[in-house]
Amino acid sequence: MITTVQQHILQQQQEISEASGTFSWLLSGITLATKMVEAKIRTAGLNDVLGAMGQTNVQGEQQQKLDVYANQALLHCLGLRDSVAALVSEEDEEPVTFDRSVESGKYIIVFDPLDGSSNIDVNVNVGTIFSVLRRLPSADAGLQASILQPGYAQVAAGYVVYGPSTVLVYTTGHGVHAFTLDPTIGAYVLTKEHMKMPQQGSYYSVNESNAAAWPEEFREYVALLRAGALGRQYSSRYIGSLVADFHRTLLKGGVFLYPPTREQPGGKLRLLYEANPLAFIAEQADGMASTGKGRILDIKPHGIHQRTPFVVGSKREVEALLYGQGK
Ligand code: AHG
Ligand code: MN
Ligand code: MN
Repeated sequence: MITTVQQHILQQQQEISEASGTFSWLLSGITLATKMVEAKIRTAGLNDVLGAMGQTNVQGEQQQKLDVYANQALLHCLGLRDSVAALVSEEDEEPVTFDRSVESGKYIIVFDPLDGSSNIDVNVNVGTIFSVLRRLPSADAGLQASILQPGYAQVAAGYVVYGPSTVLVYTTGHGVHAFTLDPTIGAYVLTKEHMKMPQQGSYYSVNESNAAAWPEEFREYVALLRAGALGRQYSSRYIGSLVADFHRTLLKGGVFLYPPTREQPGGKLRLLYEANPLAFIAEQADGMASTGKGRILDIKPHGIHQRTPFVVGSKREVEALLYGQGK
């Protein structure tokens, strides 16, 4: 018999002592929005969703039509959930806040509505990434303090990768679980429970065109992997959609890294809606996620769009960067 993601979340709810129903109703807003995005992606060439909007977003990046569509789908589906106090999106400069009491508006949802935008028009995997934070009880804390919590405070995190099949992966802090969208019934069906990242992999994933601009320790590290210093030969895989590169790393092990560069000394990837949710999942799957110096989930955010260097993957590879391969 199948287990849908809604059933799975309800079972999980007992473990995370969330008000029964509220949390699963909240996540159903996310899964509904991703099904809307998935439907658009499946017929992208036939509808008017490819190409650029002809405007830039707060990141200064060309917004793709699908970025805007995905963002609107999530804002619409989640805005209707009265347990949501605020929505933070890569595509919006400021959080969208709702005037709800501390009792009802209990959650903050942070998301990258469409990850891998540069790959939409060439029919390569893209994704959606989300992170759920609990609103801080002290009302005077205001929403800003609730939004800028370190990643270890996340209540849930997940992503959907729109690929040959559409796969949702999520954690509420009790393991990592994967679901495949069954288009014949329109439901995400459980396919893997308690996923664990291999302790070591044989892929490294990085945009090597930036190598000359990385700090020296990252150049040495990638050279180490290439030289087989960790006891095995590595292959390079780089899809350019973080969600797809991460999903492969979760399943096969190895390491994904986006080091600092001269023009982006703080890294390119965003802490709140890219690094934190994936770091939560990685650690729940016995992997690691680091800036190259410290744990991603320990970073105290100062801005909703702040960026961070990001190294995520199997313990063996991440520790080799942190502590040197021989130590
Ligand atoms: P987004 O499409 O949400 O802006 O994210 C793009 C990110 C991430 O998906 C990917 O890992 C990275 O940009 C690729 O950057 P480069 O093209 O600089 O390698
Ligand atoms: Mn992204
Ligand atoms: Mn995006």
